[in-house]
Amino acid sequence: MSHARILGIESSCDETAAAVLQVSPDLHILSSVVASQEAIHARYGGVVPEVASRQHVRWIGPVIRQAMTEAAVGWDDLDAVAVTYGPGLAGSLLVGVNAAKAIAYARGLPLVAVNHIQAHVYANWFHDPPPPFPLLCLIVSGGHADLVLMADHGRYELLGHTLDDAPGEAFDKAARLLGLGYPGGPAIQRAATTGDPHAYALPRAAQRARDGYDFSFSGLKTAVLHAVRDELGLVAGPRPRGAKGLKPTQIHLTAGDPRATDLAASFQQAVVDALVAKTVAAAEAYGVPQVALAGGVAANLLLRQRLAQALPVPLLCPPISLCTDNAVMIAACGYFRYRAGELASLDLDVVPSLSLT
Ligand code: KG4
Ligand code: ZN
Repeated sequence: MSHARILGIESSCDETAAAVLQVSPDLHILSSVVASQEAIHARYGGVVPEVASRQHVRWIGPVIRQAMTEAAVGWDDLDAVAVTYGPGLAGSLLVGVNAAKAIAYARGLPLVAVNHIQAHVYANWFHDPPPPFPLLCLIVSGGHADLVLMADHGRYELLGHTLDDAPGEAFDKAARLLGLGYPGGPAIQRAATTGDPHAYALPRAAQRARDGYDFSFSGLKTAVLHAVRDELGLVAGPRPRGAKGLKPTQIHLTAGDPRATDLAASFQQAVVDALVAKTVAAAEAYGVPQVALAGGVAANLLLRQRLAQALPVPLLCPPISLCTDNAVMIAACGYFRYRAGELASLDLDVVPSLSLT
């Protein structure tokens, strides 16, 4: 079992992805194909579930075929098929799960069901040597902010999570308010490079010790909304009865505006401050030998820098290409499930609200 080839399939949100992983016994990426729907959803300022599932249906076949071709392997060279079964959008998850089931059935291959949040952490398994346990993981994405103690493969303890918005979601919403486009994380990071992070005093929610290891980002998002309103001189008084009022999406600055870059820098700083404070506190309290960063927001350079500086132990960061959704992490997580004999049956169903544990 220390040698295997795994096909990974991912379709939980707006990326259709497939990858072939070879374990011999180090993990080698033979191929990784990601078809992103970013450009399609950009015009709506966020992911439209109906549109997403239709694109997955169009792309899943070609994406899997391309991953197999690039890896130069045939179906008979595979040992298992691993697929994301949750959490995510039901209609999107179904496309990947049905494709995986079809391949597993047709080729008589073991099927492995993978939890998308757990899989993000496995983007860190391409370092040599692999991460030591117990590992403290900060998983930050468009849907999650989880501070997790991983005792071993498959053994997770949730120490803290977000009480409202996920950080990626906050980045996306703030970017929309600032007229910076979608996805918001990379757009804010870009705009922030020319902005002053101290220009606006935005709240650092839930950073106090008595809040434990939980996060909160919705107050920050509202503060950005108010700052945008104030900058444009719009009065945020009570709405007259029956009036529609201002929707957040109707007021925004234009991208090149220095007020937008200052707000972007101040916002990014506030998100990073909150994530760093809680992660450092948990690393000290649990005395872990290393900390791993994961999820789409792990691509954020300020977060990487600040966390690495503040932690008392080394920080592991995935390669940028493996931070946002991909199928390499699904295949890697799937391999350890497969090795532990945790196989799914062909009646596997999607679980859109699947939790980390
Ligand atoms: O992990 P992911 O691809 O999808 C989910 O599982 O949610 O994460 C996507 C999220 C988006 O909200 C995106 O804005 C954010 O990750 N993101 C970033 C950066 N790159 C992507 N956030 C901050 N800085 C970045 N450089
Ligand atoms: Zn993800």
